[in-house]
Amino acid sequence: MRHDDQVRLLHEIIDRLDAGTNVDAGGIRRNPTSVYVDPDLAAREREVFFRRHPQMIGLSGDLPEPGSFFTVDELAVPILATRDVDGTFVALVNACRHRGAKVVTEERGATRRFSCGFHNWTYDTAGVLVGLPKADHFGDIDLACHGLLRLPAVERDGLLWVHPDPEGVIDVDALLTPGLADEIAHWHFDELEHLDRDSYDVACNWKLAMDTFGETYHFSTLHKNTLFNGFHGNVQAYDTFGRNHRMLLVRRAIDEMRHRPEAEWRIAEATLPAYWLFPNVQLLPTLDGAFLVRAYPHPTEPGRHTSKITFYRRPDREGPIDTSRVDLQRTVAQIFASIIRDEDYAMSESQQLTANSGALTEVVFGRNEPALHHYHNTYREALGLELLPLLDPRLATG
Ligand code: FES
Ligand SMILES: [Fe+2]
Repeated sequence: MRHDDQVRLLHEIIDRLDAGTNVDAGGIRRNPTSVYVDPDLAAREREVFFRRHPQMIGLSGDLPEPGSFFTVDELAVPILATRDVDGTFVALVNACRHRGAKVVTEERGATRRFSCGFHNWTYDTAGVLVGLPKADHFGDIDLACHGLLRLPAVERDGLLWVHPDPEGVIDVDALLTPGLADEIAHWHFDELEHLDRDSYDVACNWKLAMDTFGETYHFSTLHKNTLFNGFHGNVQAYDTFGRNHRMLLVRRAIDEMRHRPEAEWRIAEATLPAYWLFPNVQLLPTLDGAFLVRAYPHPTEPGRHTSKITFYRRPDREGPIDTSRVDLQRTVAQIFASIIRDEDYAMSESQQLTANSGALTEVVFGRNEPALHHYHNTYREALGLELLPLLDPRLATG
């Protein structure tokens, strides 16, 4: 983010802190709880959002060198992401062209060859079939025609994009809008290295996981003994970029930073930016790295999802790796992830139980929860559903 934009946004936040105000969505919206339980809607989401839409699956640091790879099993199509010998990001369907077994079963690693565990067909890092045992017995097939199927893949400004549909198109500027694409470039995500990761299977719909990132109204209650120590609650700066948005969570460090010259102001010192990248990604840059949260629906149960959380660090500029600093960064990252799991997702599971029961047909998004308004209507617009209307809170009856 350019420095003049950082200063402008920080002034916006400081004004709100001083006035005791927050971003105002202009009214409330009522969201039907059926969106968290309806199996037909869940099937449409999986098709529209997770098969027919580009996916942001990681950062460049997930593939640090030629031969690096990782797999994504949560999409409609199993994906093998690699960096080939030329250093190019490649996305492949992780299904052997012999009889369809999954070729790579590890979550991540580095290798020169991928060998299928069934009959040992072997592929290179670009997915080209380079050998099969007893070829004279099997039949003289054309190796060039039996490589792993390639998927559209784009690496740009440190973000790895893949399209689960081989015929799909990835247009990053159209996905992010040029404004957000430009802002993303300023974070230099391409310089980050993978630090650690975690994965949670949670008994809640994937949208409830995203909802926990949709407001800071809950900080002083749910996170009163954790995040609230380091963050102001119920205040933020909020901007949309097409289907995406940026929420700035306000660190208490702003209280000291505001008295320093503006030239020293840094958005990542005073806030934790949370970028929601449609449909299922939260990307949160920090001063020394980033957190990436990807929420994936369960293939058949609307009330379950998997959150994949990855942590990245900015490498030390020079000299040997400071292992104690890396250990500290890892610990901080794991604490952050455990707060999401133990506090936020505990609430998400509770909300899911209510939605399952049918006890409430609707829940309410407040004026101070604009992200929830935006992304639920974004989902609805993308599925061709009627948008949730903005209601005057004084006139709305429940
Ligand atoms: S299914 Fe992979 S080698 Fe046979
Ligand atoms: Fe939270």
